[in-house]
Amino acid sequence: MAFHHPPRAAQGYYRYDPTALEAQGPARIFPYSGTDGLVRYLLATLGQRWLTEGQLSQPWGLLLETAGTQARSLEQTWYYLTTQLVDLEVFQSGWFNLDLPPDEQFDVPFVKQRRRMMAAVLAAQKATKTLTDPAVARSQFYASLNQFGQAPPLMLDVHQREGGLSDREFARQRLAGQNPMMLRQIQPTDAPWLDTWQPCLDGRSPKRLDLAQAAANQQLFVAEYPLLQQLTPADLQPGRYVGSPVALFQTTTAGGLEPVLIQVEPGRVVLPAPTDEWMQAKLYVQVADVTYHELIVHLADTHLSMEAFAIATPRQLPPNHPLYRLLRPHLRYLLAINTRGNEVLLSPGAAIDNLMAPTREASLALINRAYRATEFGAAALPTNLKQRGVEAGTLADYPYRDDALLLWAAIARYVTQFLTRDYPDDQAVQRDPYLQAWAAELGEPLTQRPASDFPQAPDWVPPHLATAAGLTPELCPAYGRVPGFPAQLTSVQHVIDIATQIIFTCGPQHAAVNFSQFDYVGYVPNGPLAAYAAPGTCDGAEHLLPTVAKDVAQMELAYALSGIRWGKLGCGEAMQFRDRGDRAILKHFQADLAGIEDQIRDRNRQRQRRDGVPYPYLLPSQIPNTINI
Ligand SMILES: [Fe+2]
Repeated sequence: MAFHHPPRAAQGYYRYDPTALEAQGPARIFPYSGTDGLVRYLLATLGQRWLTEGQLSQPWGLLLETAGTQARSLEQTWYYLTTQLVDLEVFQSGWFNLDLPPDEQFDVPFVKQRRRMMAAVLAAQKATKTLTDPAVARSQFYASLNQFGQAPPLMLDVHQREGGLSDREFARQRLAGQNPMMLRQIQPTDAPWLDTWQPCLDGRSPKRLDLAQAAANQQLFVAEYPLLQQLTPADLQPGRYVGSPVALFQTTTAGGLEPVLIQVEPGRVVLPAPTDEWMQAKLYVQVADVTYHELIVHLADTHLSMEAFAIATPRQLPPNHPLYRLLRPHLRYLLAINTRGNEVLLSPGAAIDNLMAPTREASLALINRAYRATEFGAAALPTNLKQRGVEAGTLADYPYRDDALLLWAAIARYVTQFLTRDYPDDQAVQRDPYLQAWAAELGEPLTQRPASDFPQAPDWVPPHLATAAGLTPELCPAYGRVPGFPAQLTSVQHVIDIATQIIFTCGPQHAAVNFSQFDYVGYVPNGPLAAYAAPGTCDGAEHLLPTVAKDVAQMELAYALSGIRWGKLGCGEAMQFRDRGDRAILKHFQADLAGIEDQIRDRNRQRQRRDGVPYPYLLPSQIPNTINI
C-alpha cells in the first residue's frame, strides 16, 4: 500500500459540527450535507446567536423563533409520514435524506420495523389517554403492548412478587440491571468515607460491621455518581430532583450482595430498615443511576463514543481495506440513529428535557464532560472491570461481567484471525498509510488537522459571518476527537485491541445497556427518570414518582428505545467478502457465538432459579451487529 489517497470529495460529506467541538463533546457529524446544507446551518446558527444576544428586534426575534418551531414540527410530520409510507421506497432514498451522508439512511425493512413499533406506541398511548391512576395506566399500557407481542417489563413481576423494590433486588440491579457499570470496590482512598460512616453503623445496625476490616477483606463495594455532583440547583428543572447519592454494599456469604447504607447527600446517611426513609433513599439511588445510565452509559459511552469511528472509517479507509471490511458492518445505521436521537432525545422539549431532572443544557454539558473524561483504552471491558476492582475472582456472581467476558474473548479471536492475514507483523501496521491516516484523524490534536476535516463556508459567504457561525477551524481545541486515542498505530496487537473494543461496544455493550431499558425503566416505580421531591421534603416514597402523564411518557420512551432489534451479531449481511478465508473466519465466529448462547442459556436457568430473574441481554441471538436504536 505504497500510494495513499486522502479522502475524496464525495467522502467530504462527513463533517464535524463546530458547536460540538466548542463544547468539548464528541465528534458529531455535521448535520447538513453539501453546500446548501452549510448555508442552512449558517443561517440557523447566526439567527440563534443573534436571538440569544438580543441583537434582533422583537418582531424579527419572534418570527425566527416561530419559524424554528414550525421547522421542527414539519420535520416530525415528515418523519412520521415517511415511516407510514415506507412501502413507497423512494421516501427512504438519499433524495429525501438531506441530513445524512449518502448510503447512511435507514433502509426499507428497518423502517417497516419502526412503523410497527410506532403503531404499538400509538395504541398504548390511546389506551391510557383518559386514565388518572398510574397503576391502572401502566397495566393498560402493558396490555396494549401485549397485543403487539411485547411482554410486560420484568420488573412488574419482580415488584409484585417482592412487594416493591426489595433490598435484594436493589443490590442485584447493580450487577444485572440496565446499568451494570457503576459498582466498584472500595479503595484505600475511600477511607475518609468509611470513617464518616462507621459511627452511623455503631449501635444502630442490627449486626456490628467493621467497615475498615470488611474493606480490607475486599467485601465492600460502592455505587456512586461523581459527575452528578457537579449539578447545582440551577441545573435542575423546577419541581424535579436528582442528587449524587452513594450506596455501600457488602458481599454475602452466599456470594451475593446486600446494601449496607445509602448516603443520600453529605450528612444524610440512611440504613436498611422497613421504613419509608429507606425506601426513599433507594429511590434516590435509582434516579441517579437511571440519569447516569441514559446520559452517560448509554448515550455518551456507546452511541456518541462510536460516532467518530463511523465518520472516520469510510472517510479514511478504502472499501477494500481490511479494517474497513471488518468494522463497517458494525457501524451501519449509527449516524442515522444518532441524527434521529438529536431530535427525539436531545432537542428542546424532547425526552431528556421533558422527563429528566437536569435542564437540557445541563444534560448536554454532562454528556460532553463525560465524553471528554473517558480515555478510549480505559473503556475496554477488561480494563474497565480491573479499574473498578470487579474482575473475575472478586464478586462471585456478576451476570453482566460473566457474560460480557465470553463475548469479548470471542470477538478478540475473530478480529485476530481476520486482521493477522493482512498484518503478519508490526511493520505491516506501521507501513499502512490508510491505517495511519485513520488513527491520525481520530487521535491527532484538532489543531493539527487539515482544514478539509471541517465544514467550509462557500467563498461568497463573508468571512466574518463564517467566523461568527463557528465555521473556522482555527477555533479548534488542542485535543483529539477520541480522548486518549493514539495518533499513530505501531503494533498489530494494538489494532486488534482497538477493533475488538469497537465491535464489542457496537454489539454487546450497547445491547446490554439498551435492550434492558424496557424491563427496568419501563416499569416507572423501579427507576423513574427524575424524582419529584428533594430529600427530606416529602413524607412518602410514592410522592417521589412522576404524574401519570410523565409515567406514560417514560414507558413510551423505554419501549421505543428497546422496541426495534435489527440485525444479529456476527451476521454476514453487510460483510463484503473478499475470499473464502473471510467466510471461514466469520463461520468460526458464528460457531463461537452459538456455544456462548448455550452457555448463557444454562446460566440463565440457574439465575432464574436463584434470583427469579434472568439476564438475557447478552445472549448472542439478542445482540444486534450495530448501534441502530
Ligand atoms: Fe441505544
